[in-house]
Amino acid sequence: MECHSLSRLIIISNRVSAPTDSNSGAQGGLAVALAAALREYKGMWFGWSGETTDHFTGHINFQRAQGVTTATVDLEEQDIDEYYNGYANRTLWPLFHYRIDLAEYERGFAGGYQRVNDRFADTVRPLIDPDDVVWIQDYHMFPLGSSLRARGCKNRIGFFLHIPWPPRRLLGVLPEAAELVRHLFDYDVIGFHTEEWLESFCDYAIVELGATLDGHTLTLGERVLHVMADPIGIDATEFIEASHSPTARLAFRRMRDSAVGRDMIVGVDRLDYSKGLEERFLGYERFLKTYPEERKEVFLLQIAPPSRGAVESYQKIRAALEGMSGRINGAFADVDWVPIRYVNQGYPRDQLAGIYRAARIGLVTPLRDGMNLVAKEYVAAQDPEDPGVLILSRFAGAATQLQGGAILINPYSAEEISDAIVQALKMPRDERITRWRTMMDNVVNEDVVWWRKRFTQALMGDAKVGE
Ligand code: G6P
Repeated sequence: MECHSLSRLIIISNRVSAPTDSNSGAQGGLAVALAAALREYKGMWFGWSGETTDHFTGHINFQRAQGVTTATVDLEEQDIDEYYNGYANRTLWPLFHYRIDLAEYERGFAGGYQRVNDRFADTVRPLIDPDDVVWIQDYHMFPLGSSLRARGCKNRIGFFLHIPWPPRRLLGVLPEAAELVRHLFDYDVIGFHTEEWLESFCDYAIVELGATLDGHTLTLGERVLHVMADPIGIDATEFIEASHSPTARLAFRRMRDSAVGRDMIVGVDRLDYSKGLEERFLGYERFLKTYPEERKEVFLLQIAPPSRGAVESYQKIRAALEGMSGRINGAFADVDWVPIRYVNQGYPRDQLAGIYRAARIGLVTPLRDGMNLVAKEYVAAQDPEDPGVLILSRFAGAATQLQGGAILINPYSAEEISDAIVQALKMPRDERITRWRTMMDNVVNEDVVWWRKRFTQALMGDAKVGE
């Protein structure tokens, strides 16, 4: 079934980002991918404005840019504390990234999360026409489908999770786990980035709730849910173009000039504990210690725009990284060389593309990641005649697609990171080209258009998609 048969697509996510904004380096990959999706569809993107209001009124701010309508609402301070900083980012995010040690469980967070989802449902419900198809994104909005059904919404509603789904016994730590999963049966289709996350979800539903699985159909009582693995890609064409833009060329030259003949290793991540930044610094430190002869031939550029600064675990990781980068630089730097350039700001995408192209190694080492689009952007930005090497965590969703070309490592092992850096530095050009081609084929073929078409086709009722 073709996507033009959709009467309209309503995308709902916590963050809403008009296409004109998609160049902000601080944006997550999800926002960039959805902006690309909305360029192709009629419809609307609804979510939180990012602003606060004294009293929630449900007033909607509509904007139109480049053929995409966005509709946003302001939330109260308490909503943001309990829903966004609370349940979404203090409870669900750490737990779903396997960090039960960091997850906090407060009934107030759970209550605020449900209240905000109900507020979103109240606000968006009148905007949904009978023929519209609704596509809800990510862990901020697990119960929104249920809230819409409770308000009489009979439309096809899909849900896509952009973060990992934790193993059953980890999820069992969440007091509201069963309720949360039951809510998900109010969707028609649920998508995950990998088979692994999909299997964990089905395992919970089957063992804890008594659901039954037949192919890609999960049934619980009256409810029938189509489940699929659908790995998100990047807008490869756009990113390749960005890597040839004047801004990218300038960034490339600036980086190469400032490298004075040394090889650059680059990492670009939101400042988040799930990204394995501390472990990455330790791995790089291990490399500096173990291979003194290589030491001054390289430097690490770590770009890490701060994220979710109101949450204590994010304040802690920020302080820890400042300490570590200072300590490593203090211990190893020379008058004409600093081992780590640690930068706490985001950059526009075209500038990043130039930086990626100038880097001999892309170091992407999350401890756990739903997908990781930086890995794909690094690949897309490379010079086909002289590409760099991607070092990638085996615990990133992207590893399932890029394993043929990347050097896969265990991000918890400083030794594996250190050895992979040396392997990448010594890798002959022929091998770099072969590995890069394998990855680039995937980045180009399984791009963001492929991703959204598979999902929207399934959402329109084509159950074969995703099998
Ligand atoms: C991840 C999540 C997104 C989120 C993004 C940025 O990619 O999957 O849902 O928007 O991080 O995080 P933030 O909290 O700033 O929206």
